[in-house]
Amino acid sequence: MKFYPLTLSDVHRITPDSVALGFNLPEQLKDTFHYQPGQYLTIRHMHEGKELRRSYSITSAPGGTLAIGVKRVANGIFSTFAQGLKPGDTLDVAPPEGRFVLKNGADILLVAAGSGITPVISIATHALAEGRRVTLIFGNRDSTHIMFRETLDALKDKHLDRFTLIHVLSREEQDVPVLHGRITGERIIRLAGAGVLPLEKVDDAYLCGPGGMIDDVAAALKAAGLPSAHIHHERFLVEGAAPAPRSTAAEKAARDGVEIEVLLDGIRRRFILTEKDETVLAAAARNGLELPYSCKGGMCCTCRCRITEGKAEMALNYSLEPWELEAGFTLACQTRPKSGKLVLDFDAV
Ligand code: FES
Repeated sequence: MKFYPLTLSDVHRITPDSVALGFNLPEQLKDTFHYQPGQYLTIRHMHEGKELRRSYSITSAPGGTLAIGVKRVANGIFSTFAQGLKPGDTLDVAPPEGRFVLKNGADILLVAAGSGITPVISIATHALAEGRRVTLIFGNRDSTHIMFRETLDALKDKHLDRFTLIHVLSREEQDVPVLHGRITGERIIRLAGAGVLPLEKVDDAYLCGPGGMIDDVAAALKAAGLPSAHIHHERFLVEGAAPAPRSTAAEKAARDGVEIEVLLDGIRRRFILTEKDETVLAAAARNGLELPYSCKGGMCCTCRCRITEGKAEMALNYSLEPWELEAGFTLACQTRPKSGKLVLDFDAV
């Protein structure tokens, strides 16, 4: 993955624990950093001699200043560091990636919780600019922690007839009981029943936030008749997900040593995986080979590759679609071999 030093042109606080960072994009990098609404940037940050990578969704819409939003998370090294950044500071940034992007539907439903608004605001801004109808259901703890509140209000004022914005607050009483609590599938259906969400007209739904919310809302939308292929999601937090235990086949393969061959940017490289707990990504790094990655948590899909020989298992997968699993795609950050040789094609699409 190639990183570029980008200078911050704008830094401003959007809630007590989050900042918006705008980048100054030199003319010669405009094509490299061209993006679709919903994509993210990966930032490389050195901390105590170690390289960290963090991905943050692009909050601007194409055509505007390239910007991201960073919310401080408990013990988050980069997210805490980012709160003190100033215009003129430089960050190492990799070009946009991600498949949680705006599709063609004319009527879209957006459901976001907390910092899950970051890709969603880009999708909303772009969809509204294109003349589409947008309903956004946005869940937060209370009104002081609503990221991009002013931007959302401005969008509402500008597109009164096509943008419906519904705030759901979990720790602040609301006049209307259905708007008080966490976002759940049942709450979405109640909003539809109350006539504020025209579910029958929705072409595509985009869900972003904790995994539990996504699963629940996706199931409710599916039960209400929206096809799975039109329900798109991006997980920001994964709760309660225990990695699948390694199979005995994976343990045995690692004990015996596995020959890993990767095809990346047209070049073949080989190394041996010997540690029983190692993923392909970790073994490659130990052997001095940098494979593409960002989240290391099975969510971002940056490490996606196709198994062209051998067998493997994944500990977690929050991003590959069923058709990709059938076609042999895997996530290198979660992959442990189950055979004596594994060939992975990172150039496969
Ligand atoms: S690095 Fe994000 S899914 Fe593997």
